[in-house]
Amino acid sequence: MEKQFNVCIVGGGSRYTPGILKMLVNNKGRFPMKKIVLYDNEFERQDKVGRFGEILFREYYPECEITWTTDPDEAFKDLDFAFMQIRAGRMRMRELDEKIAMKHGCIGQETCGAGGFAYGMRSVPAVCELVRQIRKWSPNAWILNYSNPAAIVAEATKRIFPDDYRLINICDMPIGIMGMYAISLGVDVNDLEARYYGLNHFGWFTHVYNKHTGEDYLPRLEEIYTKTLSQQLSESGGEDKLNHNIKGTWMETFNFMSKMIMDYPGTLPNTYLQYYLYPKHMFSIENPEYTRANEVMDGHEKEEFAKIDAILKLGRLKGTEYEPDPKAMNGHAGYIVDLAYALSHNTKEIFLCMVENHGIISNLTEGMMVEVPCLAGVNGLEPLNVGEIPTFQKGLLENQYAYEKLTVDACLEGSYRKAWQALTLNRCVNDTDTAKAILDDYIEVNKEFWPELK
Ligand code: G6P
Ligand code: MN
Repeated sequence: MEKQFNVCIVGGGSRYTPGILKMLVNNKGRFPMKKIVLYDNEFERQDKVGRFGEILFREYYPECEITWTTDPDEAFKDLDFAFMQIRAGRMRMRELDEKIAMKHGCIGQETCGAGGFAYGMRSVPAVCELVRQIRKWSPNAWILNYSNPAAIVAEATKRIFPDDYRLINICDMPIGIMGMYAISLGVDVNDLEARYYGLNHFGWFTHVYNKHTGEDYLPRLEEIYTKTLSQQLSESGGEDKLNHNIKGTWMETFNFMSKMIMDYPGTLPNTYLQYYLYPKHMFSIENPEYTRANEVMDGHEKEEFAKIDAILKLGRLKGTEYEPDPKAMNGHAGYIVDLAYALSHNTKEIFLCMVENHGIISNLTEGMMVEVPCLAGVNGLEPLNVGEIPTFQKGLLENQYAYEKLTVDACLEGSYRKAWQALTLNRCVNDTDTAKAILDDYIEVNKEFWPELK
C-alpha cells in the first residue's frame, strides 16, 4: 500500500488553513494522509478552524484522522511533514509595523521595508523555537516553512540548523506570478518552468520556458506587459480566471509590474521589487490610517472566520452553499502539496526555493540564502546553476543581503547597533536618524516578542 503521511499545520488557526485543508482533501489521491494535526498557540482560533476541519474531513476525507491542539508535544509526534505558516504577533503587530514606519515617512510593508525588519525580529525566535520542538519529536520530518519575512527567517534557520536539509524555506509569490503569466499567455501554469534568481521577495525571472517545447515566453511576456494586467484581462475576457490572490490591492500590484518591466527591460521582476525600486511612489499611495493589515483584518480574515462560524452552525458542508467546489479547491495553496509530493516521491521537479549560495550565483557572497530553481527529491534540494549576474542586480542584492544578515545578527546577538545599521541599510529607510527613530518606536511596542537589544 502506498505510504500515508502524517502532517501538521503549524499556525493551524490561520485564515489560510481552511484553504489548505480543502486543497489537501482535493489531493488525497496523489498525497494520501493518515493523520493531520493543526497546531496553534491561540486556542480560540485553533478550535474554530479545527471544528471546521472536522466537518470537512468527516464529509470528504473520513480515512484521515484530524485533530487540533495548542500543545506542541502532542502536535509534533511522528510527523512526515510540517507545513509552517506562523505570524508572530499576528495582525495587531503587522498593523503597528506598518503604521510606525509610515509615521516616520517610510514604507512599513510586512516583509519589505521597516515592517519586514520588525516582523523578522519577532519571527526568527518564534520559528527557530518551533523547529527545535518539531525536531525533538520528528527528527526526519520535512518542514516546509513559509513563515515571513522568509528571507530573514531563512538566513536564521541556515545558521541555527546548518545541516538540516529537510528544513525548506519557500514562498508562493514566484508561483503566484507564474500563475498570472499563464493566464496572460493562455497556457496552464503547470506547463511553465522558470529560471529565476534573487533573495526572497527580491528577484527576477530570466526565462519562462514551456516545459515541453523549451520555448522561452519571456520576450512575449515583456511585450504583453506593456499593457497592465487589468487592461489585458478586460480586453481578453480573462478576468474570471483570477483567484482571490490577484484581486483588490493585489491587482494594483500586478498592474504596477508593467511599469517595472518597461523601466527595466530584459528580465521580469518579482512584484515586491516595487517597494525597493519605487519607495517614494509606494509610500505616496499608502494610507497611513488604513494599511494592508486593516484591509486584511476587515476583509479576507473577517470573511474566512464568518464563513467558518456559519459552517459550524450548520454542522455540515455537503448540500449547503459552502460545499467546496472541487475545481476551485486547487487554488493557491496547491504548490505546498506539489513540493511535498516531489520531496517524498523523488520526482526532481523544479521549484523556486531558498538555498545557500555556494557558487550558484558566482559573483554574489557565499552563504547568502538565494531564491533559485531547485530540483526537489528525497535527498533534498539541488539548486541549478545561475552564473554571473549584472552589476545593477548584484548591487541591489548585496545591499539587501547585508541588511538581512545584520537583522539576524541583531536578533541573535541582541545588538542595538546592528539593528540600527540594518534599518539604515534598508532601501526603504536609508537614513541614520530615521532608522534610529523607527527602531526606538519598534522596541517600545515589541517588548513581548523581541530579544532585548543592548
Ligand atoms: C504573498 C507573499 C506572502 C505574503 C502574502 C501577503 O502571498 O508571497 O509572503 O504573506 O502575499 O498577503 P496579504 O494578503 O496578507 O497582504
Ligand atoms: Mn512570500
